[in-house]
Amino acid sequence: MNIAIVGSGYVGLVTGVCLAQIGHKITCVDVDQEKIKKLKLGKVPIYEPGLEELLKKNLKNKRLSFTTSIREATRKSTAIFIAVGTPSKKSGDADLTYVENVARQIAVNMDDYKLIIEKSTVPAETGKRVARTIKMNLPKKFKKTTLEFDVASNPEFLREGSAISDFMNPDRVVVGVESKKAEKLFREIYKPLKPHMVVTNINSAELIKHASNSFLATKISFMNSISQICDKLGADVLKVAEGMGHDKRIGRAFLNAGVGYGGSCFPKDVDAFVRISEKSGYDFGLLREVRKVNEEQKASFVRLIEDKLWIVKNKVIGVLGLAFKPDTDDMRSAPSIDIINALQQEGAKIKAYDPVAMPNAKKIFKKITYGKDPYDTAKGCDCLLLLTEWDEFKKLNFKKIGSAMKQAVLFDGRNLYHDKGLEDLGFEYHGIGRGVGISS
Ligand code: UDX
Repeated sequence: MNIAIVGSGYVGLVTGVCLAQIGHKITCVDVDQEKIKKLKLGKVPIYEPGLEELLKKNLKNKRLSFTTSIREATRKSTAIFIAVGTPSKKSGDADLTYVENVARQIAVNMDDYKLIIEKSTVPAETGKRVARTIKMNLPKKFKKTTLEFDVASNPEFLREGSAISDFMNPDRVVVGVESKKAEKLFREIYKPLKPHMVVTNINSAELIKHASNSFLATKISFMNSISQICDKLGADVLKVAEGMGHDKRIGRAFLNAGVGYGGSCFPKDVDAFVRISEKSGYDFGLLREVRKVNEEQKASFVRLIEDKLWIVKNKVIGVLGLAFKPDTDDMRSAPSIDIINALQQEGAKIKAYDPVAMPNAKKIFKKITYGKDPYDTAKGCDCLLLLTEWDEFKKLNFKKIGSAMKQAVLFDGRNLYHDKGLEDLGFEYHGIGRGVGISS
């Protein structure tokens, strides 16, 4: 099928490249001319394993093309995905300016039937507003006769770092439609993936996305709360998670206590869902608490460091991992930001290393130095923090790390080294929720 993707950011690009890979003819659109120029040359502006290879392959076989013209993409395509940004406003509401703008531009360029699909994460009822915007902006010649179109919702569940395999092997594909024709087109689009399709109305599909991400964030905050109790009661959060996770109704995934969730989705989607609920007349107190626990988890990690170092001022603190999670260079809402800022405020000197996120980190942090590798970073440090569980950090030589440090103290914000016997190597080791917290 001829398909257009408007917005060549993270979601749009992965969607476009993967739909081309499964056989469709894709036109990707973006307003950023520089980005389109690079993409045409097969260069991916973000770090996502496997994406560049697939991009190059589908450019070569001509199933994928790039343009800055919505008109060209609209005219060519039967289905049009809207995958532009929906940033948070100060209030927590999603800012839908870009979505509205794109809907208007699609409408003025329409000449025959189109299926217009919201891919960006949007609040319930956005579908209705998009449909109205399109109706009001159709070319004049269609004002009297009607031009048929459908609006639909097809939320994404792609995890950064494994987005390609998430797209190609989805747990489910959710589609919100209001007509049989739209449903039929979706079945055709996703047929090569043979997915489990959840077909519902647009409002329910929009809600599924917010409910799913908020539920996952709740699972994490729940376990982070348990980690606090573990420290107070001398219990081990890893064993608690294992014991809970074997219950099929609970499941082991997303029960890892740590320094809190980050990224471009969870913080933003939880905020947006709190606001959506509020506006609908329901106070989602549970989710407000999820958010609070996430903030508190970072603050309590900082308190632990302050407690163990005693004086933070002028201490050199090494940081391993800056990205909000492994296999991405994304620094958006990364826990490292709040943790480093808080320690700097107390006068600490920060020396950091991340396998891929350092160029992005440099745009955020002031006055921090960067190590060449973990060993270089550890040199002369009063303590080391592990904030992102990159594979590279799993295989470190701790004898070498320990002897490079001024004092071998390690704060493991992801419980990555819980079984490495670091105490036997002379380290003072502090994990999350391992039964010993701040000394009272
Ligand atoms: C998430 C959703 O998983 C995806 O379905 C959605 O569409 C976009 O948002 P992503 O933001 O890429 O994907 O990251 P994810 O792997 O879900 O992790 C989010 C955050 O939670 C990370 O900061 C991670 O470190 C943290 N996390 C995850 C935990 O702290 N503990 C866990 O057990 C799992």
